[in-house]
Amino acid sequence: MDHQEIIIVDFGGQYSQIIARRVREWHVFCEVIPYKKAFEVIKEKKPEGIIFTGGADSVYDENPPRISTEIYDLGIPILGICYGMQLIASDLGGKVELGDAKEFGKTKTQLDIDSPFFKELMETNQVWMSHHDMVTKLPEEFETIASTDLSVHAAMANHKKHIYGVQFHPEVHHTHEGKDMLKNFLYDICGCTGDWTMENYVKAAINNIREEVGEGKVLLALSGGVDSSVCAKLLTEAIGNQLTCIFVDHGLMRKNEGDEVEAAFKDSGMNFIRVNAQERFLKKLEGVTEPEEKRKIIGEEFIRVFEEEGKKIGQVDYLAQGTIYPDVIESGEGEAAVIKSHHNVGGLPEVVDFKGLIEPLRDLFKDEVRELGEEIGLADYLVWRQPFPGPGLGIRVIGEITKEKLDILRDADYIYRDEIKKAGLERAINQYFAVLTSNRSVGVMGDYRTYDYTLALRGVTTTDFMTADWARIPYDILEKISSRIVGEVKHINRIVYDITSKPPATIEWE
Ligand code: XMP
Repeated sequence: MDHQEIIIVDFGGQYSQIIARRVREWHVFCEVIPYKKAFEVIKEKKPEGIIFTGGADSVYDENPPRISTEIYDLGIPILGICYGMQLIASDLGGKVELGDAKEFGKTKTQLDIDSPFFKELMETNQVWMSHHDMVTKLPEEFETIASTDLSVHAAMANHKKHIYGVQFHPEVHHTHEGKDMLKNFLYDICGCTGDWTMENYVKAAINNIREEVGEGKVLLALSGGVDSSVCAKLLTEAIGNQLTCIFVDHGLMRKNEGDEVEAAFKDSGMNFIRVNAQERFLKKLEGVTEPEEKRKIIGEEFIRVFEEEGKKIGQVDYLAQGTIYPDVIESGEGEAAVIKSHHNVGGLPEVVDFKGLIEPLRDLFKDEVRELGEEIGLADYLVWRQPFPGPGLGIRVIGEITKEKLDILRDADYIYRDEIKKAGLERAINQYFAVLTSNRSVGVMGDYRTYDYTLALRGVTTTDFMTADWARIPYDILEKISSRIVGEVKHINRIVYDITSKPPATIEWE
């Protein structure tokens, strides 16, 4: 793919992915490469610029993470962040020592705005600090370009060689003008032009897929989630009916969801196979109440159905997957990603022999996948679909799963989603769903006594789904949802709203 590039050398810092996101936001392509492999990659790719990330180590430890010092002679601009700055300082003859105190949090800083790195920024600024080690002596030919009360050298530069170091974190929002500092580095110092756009990406991705696949046949497991849907649409644009998508409807989807996925893809030009496997799954799940066992059964059965259908197709040359960039980074090697099955089962289905994997989204972050989906005209409800667990409603019906319970939950969940949409809260709440508890309680409906299920509503705000807060849905909206569900869905006579954050709770109930 023909575009400029920045290589981010990962020294194990917690913000490596965020740095990559920030660079991409400026329409510059970048990759995060583990420090052990980075030098080779840089020599081969000759990027426009290099960023060293932070890391938990100290440069004066016995065996700190390092990169060949030849990197400083390649003539490529370098920006070192936190540990990255300390490494540059120590490699080039400066001194790094443990500071008297930790410098942590929002910190007032004086910037030298004559340096191109701080061009057009405020002289007195706020940055985000998180360090104990500090540069106490600059290498030769470096000068100080920022300082704080605790750090005399909060940032340094060798302007002649275009090597920069910052002790603080420009990638974090608390660094007020951090975005602009990165822009200065990318555009003014590295000479990037912002040629990473989704329009270009789509054109190039389609060409690449065509080149790689040739006349071959490609098979994709389509779940209806964002990644696999975007992947399916992109492959369809590229190779049309050489693609076959198998959509296993396990009967644990939300209301209308199976039909929506079918409607979105059926006449799109690819071969679309919907397998209605509901009864098969229900049979396997009969009498099972333990959540992990449910997950395992659903995952395994999914692979079996996919294999059976795949074998019916005959020759398959490639298997496609909606692997995205965070999966690649998290695999640690930046090489083949751990196989991502949407049921977290792991392992490739033994469909038939195939030559290789096609992963057209493996360079993209989640929001870029959505942008790509919009660019190629995928329906909004698929692009913006909230995360949905592979085992589906199987882990939202607490205890034993039956068709009757699934239908009750589907109807209630539908009303909940409908009201959230009407209230315009769809994107403000990152994930929201109903859970059918196994609890039954006494109620009164008209003149009758009822003894029916309790439904729980869950809604969370989160950025990473690792931690989450419960969403403050206004009372009047909750009231409307509650009265509609109890009025319209049989066998639910009580509704509760989950007000626990994660941790200590998880987002799903099972
Ligand atoms: P928890 O419940 O662990 O969920 O806080 C975090 C996120 O992961 C989703 N989730 C799953 N996704 N298979 C999946 O593909 C699963 O078994 C599974 N369990 C939870 C959950 O919906 C939330 O977005």
